[in-house]
Amino acid sequence: MSPDRMLVEVIIRITEISNDRKLGFQEKLNKILLEIVDCMQVNRGSIMLLKNRKTLEVMASTNPEIIGVKQRLEVDFPSSWVVKNKKPLYVDSSSPCSFLVRQFQHYKGDAFFLVPLISNDRVIGVVNVTNKIDSDFFNKEDRGILLSIMGNVIIALENHRLAESLKKQQKVLKKKNLELRKLEKLRTELFNMLIHDLKGPISEIVANLDILSYTAKDENIEFVESAQSGCNTLYNMVSNLLDIARLEEGKMPLIYEEIRPEELIKESIAGLLVSVKMKGLKFLEQLPDSDSLLVRCDRSMLTRVIQNLLTNAISYSPSGETITVGIRHDLKDIEFFVKDNGPGVPEQYKEVIFDKYMQIDKKSDGRVYSTGLGLAFCKAAVEAHGGTVGVESDGQKGSRFFFALPL
Ligand SMILES: Nc1ncnc2c1ncn2[C@@H]1O[C@H](COP(=O)(O)OP(=O)(O)OP(=O)(O)O)[C@@H](O)[C@H]1O
Ligand SMILES: [Mg+2]
Repeated sequence: MSPDRMLVEVIIRITEISNDRKLGFQEKLNKILLEIVDCMQVNRGSIMLLKNRKTLEVMASTNPEIIGVKQRLEVDFPSSWVVKNKKPLYVDSSSPCSFLVRQFQHYKGDAFFLVPLISNDRVIGVVNVTNKIDSDFFNKEDRGILLSIMGNVIIALENHRLAESLKKQQKVLKKKNLELRKLEKLRTELFNMLIHDLKGPISEIVANLDILSYTAKDENIEFVESAQSGCNTLYNMVSNLLDIARLEEGKMPLIYEEIRPEELIKESIAGLLVSVKMKGLKFLEQLPDSDSLLVRCDRSMLTRVIQNLLTNAISYSPSGETITVGIRHDLKDIEFFVKDNGPGVPEQYKEVIFDKYMQIDKKSDGRVYSTGLGLAFCKAAVEAHGGTVGVESDGQKGSRFFFALPL
């Protein structure tokens, strides 16, 4: 085989070794060294790598006993000379006897060839070959071969270094991710606790306002009602926030009951009569005649779903309008709906308004506080019941929000 052809084949094999994912680093070094020893026709060879700025370590060797042996760079070894000078070193019997040659006395032959492994202008190790099989010197061509394959050896080593550093980074990232998740959990728990604790004082205000509403004199009734309506909104916001978090975490068990659907609607309307009156609106109920129908659901959760839809209808309806609330059903499903004559929902928003914090347009009167959580709560609560929510609207006038539950 011609030397060129041989060289190409060695380079291909070293590249294959370096790319073989099944091989560990040590195995790769051993195999690469075997290729070097084979193509250089020598009995002995080793690969040393820099452990730190002061030490070289034998990583692979034809003499297994010296693997792991460390060599300090400050001592005048031939490999130290190669590292310091960043140059190959060739010594044979014709070389002037120097301190370097004496270091090799434990070897049989006189000819040694050491080549630095240089990556990014930095020496990362040394490859050395000796004990040439058929002669005791390395001619120019021999030396050229080792120098030519060195680039591929370096690539193999660098690939490994990169993979190792990637692994390390991955580990760090994983750890950070875990810490972040813990923090996030803590934050959510704290947040939920806080929100939950808000419910107590708000309930107290609601209860006291209720008492006040019975005793308030005519001129004060308006203020009390306004405070009641504000409190209802606040209570609703806090509840939505808390329940969405619980539903998302799957920590909200549903308490199922068999309920007549019209009962749900009447209960939902009851809490909103003040707001309807304040805005000069009317409720119209559309309920089927048959009253044998029963829905299996969590009463308080579905009441709040309907209340959220009604609250939206109230805030988006111009005063004087009518809001229709009702049900319709077939044998399989029951659908609750709330219809208003407000501005409607444009096509492109029909899905996203059910996402958290999604509001098409911030209300401009500055008096109505909202967070964009109502519909997100409705969706989570209805889906927890195995149902679906949606809206029908031509995007110009009026919308019909609905949710369907399996019967
Ligand atoms: N009946 C409706 N008519 C027109 N647009 C509506 C109607 N209901 C909801 N939307 C639009 O969908 C958005 C999301 O509604 P959602 O109930 O989730 O939030 P919100 O009412 O703005 O705030 P929150 O319910 O948290 O107080 C609203 O901001 C509004 O843009
Ligand atoms: Mg709302």
